[in-house]
Amino acid sequence: MEYLLRCIDCNSYYESDYIYTCPRCSGLLEVQFSLNADEIDFSLDGNNLSVWKYRSLLPVRINPISLNEGGTPLYKANYISEVSNCNVYVKHEGMNPSGSFKDRGMTVGVTKAIEIGRKAVACASTGNTSASMAMYAARAGIKAYVLLPAGKVALGKVAQALMHGARVISIKGNFDEALTLVRQVCEEKGFYLLNSVNPFRLEGQKTIAFEIVDALGVPDAVILPVGNAGNISAIYKGFLELRELGLIDEIPRMIGVQAEGANPIFRAFIEGRREIEPIENPETVATAIRIGQPVNAKKALRAIYESEGMAVEVSDTEIVEAQKLLAAKEGIGVEPASAASVAGLIKLSREEELSGERVVCITTGHLLKDPEEVIKVCGKPIEVDADVEAIKKAL
Ligand code: F0G
Repeated sequence: MEYLLRCIDCNSYYESDYIYTCPRCSGLLEVQFSLNADEIDFSLDGNNLSVWKYRSLLPVRINPISLNEGGTPLYKANYISEVSNCNVYVKHEGMNPSGSFKDRGMTVGVTKAIEIGRKAVACASTGNTSASMAMYAARAGIKAYVLLPAGKVALGKVAQALMHGARVISIKGNFDEALTLVRQVCEEKGFYLLNSVNPFRLEGQKTIAFEIVDALGVPDAVILPVGNAGNISAIYKGFLELRELGLIDEIPRMIGVQAEGANPIFRAFIEGRREIEPIENPETVATAIRIGQPVNAKKALRAIYESEGMAVEVSDTEIVEAQKLLAAKEGIGVEPASAASVAGLIKLSREEELSGERVVCITTGHLLKDPEEVIKVCGKPIEVDADVEAIKKAL
């Protein structure tokens, strides 16, 4: 399907595939399709879910660099439904190839890099973006450069980036600083930037909306953690496109959850603002969303306001409680940031903001991403002598 890039700030249109921010005003770009229902070659029949099922709505012209991403499970969450008095489903994005939703974006982003002839990709990351980018760059046979905030990235994610062959550089600074720096480096070195300022990457992530509708229809609300705010923007765009194509009538309320220590979108929302004020020193157990200056804030706030959704903040304690609940009561193992979605749902249901609704919580990353946090909150295994009596005592 034909598409252009549109600047969300100055409303300029571009026909180029070679840019990812507005050459006139540096604003964020988004891919705008000339949507035509006759050109859709998939049906929302619940079968064969995957990112590339929806290829006719993805802005690429070559065969994709793919590792079979998407098609993640949508679990009915009975215990959490009872606790929250809602009809709750969990879409477990931790079941993607690298263990997070980022793979949906990277399969498209790295394909675009190859399509336009780039030999190296780069990102700043709280961990998952780098793991995913390194994996797809390896698959494509191009170089990957990663900037991480030193000491603040979960071990599993660093391990992935390293083993998939990325050049991993830790900076003495936080994610927001790493992102500013990597943008500069990309400009100077000609690397293809794969943070969520890249509108092509976000196109892949909108397939979460397509899969939800494909498997379930349109829920009343979608709840997800928000860090750099790309995912909530992408998923909302996915629903908008389906509505414009006449494939759905309604759009779910988009509900973004942030950690109390990294909550610029929540603050903007409660004050009714469309722009954020940056948080200088963000801090949370959910290191994936330890972000004070989300680049996609404007897109995310638009998604929240237009869908009549909301932003909510949760404490680290609430995040860990939700992570334990998901793991121990539903059998769904997620990393802390992902549990923020369920923590947000429980908080909103207690405040009677939600009741009886059909809700999809997105769990964005797998439990194994952050083993150190697990040991911190669960403790180490009990160690006893190799002896039946000793074991029986410990049972
Ligand atoms: N959940 C997880 C597990 C993440 O890794 C991220 C973002 C988010 C939620 C938030 O998504 O940024 O689109 O609002 N991680 C990025 C990274 C920042 O570098 O891996 P968002």
